[in-house]
Amino acid sequence: MEPRAIRPGVQWLGAVDWDRRLFDSLIPLPDGTSYNAYLITGSDKTALLDSVDPAKADTLLAQLEGVERIDYVIAHHAEQDHSGTIPLVLERHPEATVLATAKGVELLAQHLPIPVERFRKVADGEVLSLGDKTLTFVHTPWVHWPETMVTFLTEERILFSCDFFGSHLATSDLFVTDEGQVYEAAKRYYAEIMMPFRRIIQRNLAKLEPYDIAMIAPSHGPIHGRPAFIVDAYRDWVSETPKNEVVIPYVSTHGSTTKMVDRLVTALVAQGIKVHQFDLPVTDIGKLAISLVDAATIILGTPTIHVGPHPAVFYAAHLANALRPKARFASVIGSYGWNSKAIEQIAALIPDLKVELLTPVLAKGRPVADDLAAVDRLAAEVSERHRALFGQS
Ligand code: FEO
Repeated sequence: MEPRAIRPGVQWLGAVDWDRRLFDSLIPLPDGTSYNAYLITGSDKTALLDSVDPAKADTLLAQLEGVERIDYVIAHHAEQDHSGTIPLVLERHPEATVLATAKGVELLAQHLPIPVERFRKVADGEVLSLGDKTLTFVHTPWVHWPETMVTFLTEERILFSCDFFGSHLATSDLFVTDEGQVYEAAKRYYAEIMMPFRRIIQRNLAKLEPYDIAMIAPSHGPIHGRPAFIVDAYRDWVSETPKNEVVIPYVSTHGSTTKMVDRLVTALVAQGIKVHQFDLPVTDIGKLAISLVDAATIILGTPTIHVGPHPAVFYAAHLANALRPKARFASVIGSYGWNSKAIEQIAALIPDLKVELLTPVLAKGRPVADDLAAVDRLAAEVSERHRALFGQS
């Protein structure tokens, strides 16, 4: 794709990666992604903001053909999908200096072959003049690495936010045109990447409030021409209060756990609780992560394999623990053949979830009437806790 003008002297560069289906060999990308870089041409100086994943280096270098001078390469984030092509840009532009936070300089030097003399650290709130354009660097740590920062272009009121407010979405649209589609992609992105840093993001959002932002240009997905849409969504996602929702990731080998999950779902829905049910072997973990953003309760369903939970449930529990959602309650249901330590093992996997563990239900073999009655009691316990939390249900 050719460079695309956003405002006078401000261009989108970068690559749309339509076919990428996995990030970090872990995160599903059902809609591909993009690596957005931006070129700001001032009356005196020119700045390139971020670069692209090394797999798309040729695209960026072709877009930069004819750019005579790059004075600054602004590296908001050291992860290679944005920084990986900086060494090639520096090779072509020996005049360019890389600007990053102090931590950013440290990480960039560790991850990429960039000589130390090519770096300059920028302070929080530091202002850089490009002549008729003025940049302010705002340190916004942990979105989602410790070194991250954003840049505000005063004259055009554009916030360049890198991963912050981004979405893995391949599209030919330069700007957001379908907020419903972008909401889903951005929430998936937040859930998978940002959620563990929810409280720090609250502070970063507050830090950006003094800036009168007309446009947010992230480094993944389309540009937000209506910043309130994504800022309000983030405020909701990072808020302290969960929603009246239960997430049930589960596995069933011979149908017993499925029977218990079905009973639980029926009982919860009857109590007015929204349920997200995921059969883990066929689940897109991004969908599971999205549902963890809001849920007040997580209930894992598992058969017992070699005395412990099914490995897919191990994985889901570990993932939930790593993402540190705002859930308040958790429990386990399932069945076993002759013996089980599934409950103890799952409880040990989620030390970082600040949850109250509700009464688990394990059936020996196929669930009989007593087991299903215990599932009903668990649903009542969940409902009671949610009523106390939401004053409804
Ligand atoms: Fe898009 Fe954290 O890199």
